[in-house]
Amino acid sequence: MEKQILITGGTGYIGSHTAVEFINAGYEVIIIDNLSNSDISVLNGIEKITDIKPIFYKVDVTLKAELRKVFETHPNIQAIVHFAAFKAVGESVEFPLKYYHNNLTGLINILECMEEFKIKNLVFSSSCTIYGQPELLPVTEESPVIKPESPYGNTKKISEEIIQDFLNSTQGFKCISLRYFNPIGAHPSAEIGELPIGVPNNLMPYITQTAYGIREELKVFGSDYNTPDGTPIRDYINVVDLAEAHVAAVNRLLKDKTEDKFEVFNIGTGQGHTVLEVINAFEKNTGVKLKYRITNRRPGDVEKVWADTSKANKILGWKAKKSLAETVKSAWEWEKKYREKTKASI
Ligand code: WQD
Repeated sequence: MEKQILITGGTGYIGSHTAVEFINAGYEVIIIDNLSNSDISVLNGIEKITDIKPIFYKVDVTLKAELRKVFETHPNIQAIVHFAAFKAVGESVEFPLKYYHNNLTGLINILECMEEFKIKNLVFSSSCTIYGQPELLPVTEESPVIKPESPYGNTKKISEEIIQDFLNSTQGFKCISLRYFNPIGAHPSAEIGELPIGVPNNLMPYITQTAYGIREELKVFGSDYNTPDGTPIRDYINVVDLAEAHVAAVNRLLKDKTEDKFEVFNIGTGQGHTVLEVINAFEKNTGVKLKYRITNRRPGDVEKVWADTSKANKILGWKAKKSLAETVKSAWEWEKKYREKTKASI
């Protein structure tokens, strides 16, 4: 029997790339998504890449009755990869309750269904934002977790705590929490990629949209940080590499190799880049000149953070493989292909 997994938020940016990697690894994939921040056409992209259309249900994880039906229909799900959540940092400051409600209710419903339907394995989508500005770099999993500045970030911290309390109260349930650094780029086929609704908040889609002429210019938020060129440093991880980490995590859970019920792993490249380095890499590898301007700092931004990935390298047997050069290029190829496609359909 094929190994069957459920991916919540599977038509989203990271979810869709992860679905592809699970299909490539021979899993049967069931996707649920409420399509609040993604498009149903993503399923066609997944099918073009893999020749397989995943089973899909338009389900909102905050609605327990809807969610239960999926588990009743599919009694052989072995693991859940839980992405479905709101993720806009700024919006979460404006509407904190929306974020706490959605992200925490969704998680609790997933955990309750795991308990009811005896699904023992969970991979949770966490974030390096819970480290804040670490004192020591690169940041290891032992680094203290702080209360993040944004309600979005705080839902990730609280979610990890909820999961641990659940695991401590039960027998046999396990979770791997993957703390992502900054996911960027797109599938090399350019069939799936990042598709923010409205004005992007994150650097990479802002770059590609500016390059395409959708945005007038990129604002670089501050050049007076204590870094080599004054702009903040992040660990930009290719989304396909990131997706592969989820397969490694589920494989580990299913082989029952986990040492603790709850394991956390940093998922990054182990290398930091400044904003200006990302811009330079983009210009150099795409041949497109980017219009940008240095402006004030963005409130809430930390100065520098990059991952120590040795735990994931050693225990998950996973390592980021793709360079910044090919990653920024993949983001550009996706932006162009997507815009051409949507132009053609107007
Ligand atoms: C990266 C760098 C900005 C936009 C956030 C969340 C994190 C995760 C990913 C996900 C920073 C600079 C950006 C722009 C800029 N969440 N920048 N001009 O803030 O590191 O992380 O997204 O779902 O939890 O906190 O990522 O891409 O927004 O910024 O200069 O228009 O680019 O200042 O230094 P961030 P980002």
